[in-house]
Amino acid sequence: MTPYNPLRQLPERAGYGKGDVLVLVGELFGRGYANGIVEEARNRGMTIIGSSVGRRDSDGSLRPLNPEELAAAESLLGAKIVNVALEAGFDLEQAADGLTPADRLKGVKPDDWDSFRLDGALLAESRQKGVERFTANMGRFARELDAMIPPGANVLFVHAMAGGVPRARVYMPLLNRVFKGQGDRFISSEAFWQSDLGVLCRDNFAEVTAETFRHLVKETEGVRQRVSGAGGRVAYAAYGYHGCEVLVDGDYIWQSYTPYLTGWAKILLEQHAAAACAEGITAAVFNSPEIQTNSSALFLGVELSLYPLLAALDREGGGPVAESIKEECRQLLRDDVSLETLLAEANAYLSSPLHAPFREYATWPHHNTREQMELMLNSSARLMEMSRNPKEIVCAALSRAVFTGVGWLMLDTMWSSSEPVYWVSHDVIAKRLLTR
Ligand SMILES: NC(=O)c1ccc[n+]([C@@H]2O[C@H](COP(=O)([O-])OP(=O)(O)OC[C@H]3O[C@@H](n4cnc5c(N)ncnc54)[C@H](O)[C@@H]3O)[C@@H](O)[C@H]2O)c1
Repeated sequence: MTPYNPLRQLPERAGYGKGDVLVLVGELFGRGYANGIVEEARNRGMTIIGSSVGRRDSDGSLRPLNPEELAAAESLLGAKIVNVALEAGFDLEQAADGLTPADRLKGVKPDDWDSFRLDGALLAESRQKGVERFTANMGRFARELDAMIPPGANVLFVHAMAGGVPRARVYMPLLNRVFKGQGDRFISSEAFWQSDLGVLCRDNFAEVTAETFRHLVKETEGVRQRVSGAGGRVAYAAYGYHGCEVLVDGDYIWQSYTPYLTGWAKILLEQHAAAACAEGITAAVFNSPEIQTNSSALFLGVELSLYPLLAALDREGGGPVAESIKEECRQLLRDDVSLETLLAEANAYLSSPLHAPFREYATWPHHNTREQMELMLNSSARLMEMSRNPKEIVCAALSRAVFTGVGWLMLDTMWSSSEPVYWVSHDVIAKRLLTR
């Protein structure tokens, strides 16, 4: 079990500056966690270098970005991208019989999810080929990158990769029921996780979310040696999730979204960071709060623990930054709803006695129950209805505040990090934001 290690104090300002390089491993979508650290690095004059997962052609083959796609991605990132396809996972990787795991699921009906069988040996073959493809591409990426890093630079790798839902049609309706189903539509996440379809998901999540970090550290060994040989620092940071502390009934309490099926892969990610640290490499996972991004859109209810950030901003001292975030949120609420009503509703959800078994850190990640899903989904809907426009809810403003704070804290911590895993919760994020 990873020892719980919350970041409580603001780290000293890092020595990163002009001439130093931040390498983003994963694509930027505009409202994800990586936006925070990229923006902060840019403010400090660092050079940003990006990456891409590549694209799939209609015949299923993986390729780097074409010139138009590359120009669009570089313009969004505002920086150069090393154009090697770093897609991870094996859902679209052919075994010797010419079929991919996704092919094997063609025509499977969502109702057959618990009886459909997949051949483990064939999946293992695809998995092995996926690993070979990814490590070869990561090696190519590292060699191209090496040529772009000036002598004497400090280099910070930022790993943002997560995901891996197999791209077979059967998964979307199924996962919608696991993550958003109640009443007759409820599916137990535990039963799903134990099915063959669940096992494929588990293994693909592990490849995308955790193994990519291990391969990154291994394949960039040459960069590490050259940079440190020239007197520069090399560090690896990754985003994790393992619950976080938010204000509940006036106290900071560790809580988590359920059912977070990526959790097992996130624990593996923490173990990879610990293994790298044990070899003397500066590597750390930052377990960060729930926010709304492209990747978390499937997890309805994940945003419920974001609301009390508003209370944390006051608890940590308030002031002009807190007022401006609160005002931005106020503008998005219906005229008959105040921030106090919003916070009271979120607190009623978070403090429900029904959550007691889900507060156990040692047994995380937890599976869903019918009652828990009902409470979460209904509370989520009630809070969303408090916004003037359901497409523009206060969570976007709060998510931005969180990823800004987390990016800033990560950048400073990585300058002289000594621990493999940190938790970054609402307390320290609010403290950080209020100093701006
Ligand atoms: N959103 C949250 O609530 C939350 C909370 C804590 C941690 N995180 C973590 O933050 C990181 C960034 O996620 P985000 O929520 O900002 O969303 P995002 O959608 O902006 O980022 C997801 C990243 O994963 C990459 N990716 C997706 N599929 C991939 C594949 N098959 N191979 C390689 N890369 C792939 C994408 O290129 C992108 O960089 C992730 O590690 C995520 O788990 C998110």
